[in-house]
Amino acid sequence: MSNKAIVEYDGKKLELDAIIGTENEVGLDITQLRAKTGMITLDPGYGNTGSCTSDITFIDGEKGILRYRGYAIEELAEKSTFLETAFLVLYGHLPSQKELNTFSAGISAEAGLHYAMKSHFDGFPANAPPMAILSAMLNTLACYNTELLTTATDGPKFEVPALKIMSKVRTIAAWAYRTSKGRPYMPPSPRLSYCGNFLHMMFSQPFDLYEVIPEVEKALDLFLILHADHEQNCSTSTVRMVGSARANLFSSVAAGVGALWGPLHGGANAEVIAMLNNIHDNGIKLSDYVEAAKDKNSDTKLMGFGHRVYKSFDPRAKILKLHVDRVLDKLHIDDPLLDIAKQLEDVALHDEYFIERNLYPNVDFYSGILLRAIGIPVNMFTVMFAIGRMPGWIANWREMLCQEQRISRPRQIYTGETLRSYVQIGSR
Ligand code: CMC
Repeated sequence: MSNKAIVEYDGKKLELDAIIGTENEVGLDITQLRAKTGMITLDPGYGNTGSCTSDITFIDGEKGILRYRGYAIEELAEKSTFLETAFLVLYGHLPSQKELNTFSAGISAEAGLHYAMKSHFDGFPANAPPMAILSAMLNTLACYNTELLTTATDGPKFEVPALKIMSKVRTIAAWAYRTSKGRPYMPPSPRLSYCGNFLHMMFSQPFDLYEVIPEVEKALDLFLILHADHEQNCSTSTVRMVGSARANLFSSVAAGVGALWGPLHGGANAEVIAMLNNIHDNGIKLSDYVEAAKDKNSDTKLMGFGHRVYKSFDPRAKILKLHVDRVLDKLHIDDPLLDIAKQLEDVALHDEYFIERNLYPNVDFYSGILLRAIGIPVNMFTVMFAIGRMPGWIANWREMLCQEQRISRPRQIYTGETLRSYVQIGSR
């Protein structure tokens, strides 16, 4: 079999090399296309564009497969912890006990924020969206760590900012929530786990410490594992793109937060709950809602459904659906939104429109119900996604720099006016 493809246009011919991945994915190398033929490729939304090669995450959207560094998401969800998975995503191998202890200790040690950062939180209005605060405060962290504004990919100049961001993102997230509630900030407690510490900073009161419930802690840990990486999605591509200009890690991940905020990406988890609440509170018939979601003239969408890559099912949604049942059971919660979600899924999965377009529930369809059950307020849902995605963003930023990637700079096909003469309007 030849591993070349031939492009022929206007009498010019070019042989393109096929680049074959370890899972036999095939990409045509078009890096010489413009130099040799004067043409570019056009792919708005990058549906057919591979922007890089990567060793981090593998997805087979047709088969519903997701693996971090070769490990199946189902196995990691069952056997791993978020910190172990984060180490795996960042460094490419599962940590030894010693490596994990050092990593965990580093994360615990970095949980606090510089005292002066408190005044930055104080400057936000009470109802400021926590995603806006998160992005702003990740950049603010850079101001307190100017010696770490490098593009180092190894040694303390990489490891220290990576640990700081992985750890402090929880503190920033929890304090963003407390800002929105007008509550005093709760300092981290080093004796608590990654998730326990976050819950403590979110919910403890000065004289009434939050008691971490093991089921809640475990459910949150699972949520974070399922969000740890997802190859070249919108926010990760943003992080890579910003980093390709040799921007530091703080500003690159802060840009990732901005992309994640969008309702078509990470913001969908909050939109799903808004949709289910709307159906519940207004007694909307599910078939009517699905009809509206199919209507191209309406703004309604079935939030938490559909995915650019998954065309059979999203394995994260499958795992979440199973655990939502278990967690609600253990916490003795009866959430009417879960019943609505299950029925809505059933109606959509039997509808020709959704079948034809291979639209299935994605990770966001059930994650909001899990987060609600463990007490996370809706305006924090996408922030939780950002905490989970942090190892993926950092690993992708680092990999891109290790590959010495050129600055990301797509081209375009210009469709505007051709040259015209300037005609002065009136006298000046
Ligand atoms: N409800 C109704 N129709 C839909 C939906 C939906 N949720 N998703 C896709 N479609 C239709 C779409 O209108 C199009 O129809 P047609 O072929 O007739 O024009 C067809 O399905 C293909 O969809 P697309 O918009 O071309 O797909 P995309 O790959 O550009 O977008 C998506 C993917 C996730 C943005 C989209 O499915 C969507 O908007 N879903 C709802 C938002 C959501 O749940 N986002 C979370 C994604 S998973 C978390 C993460 O971001 O990683």
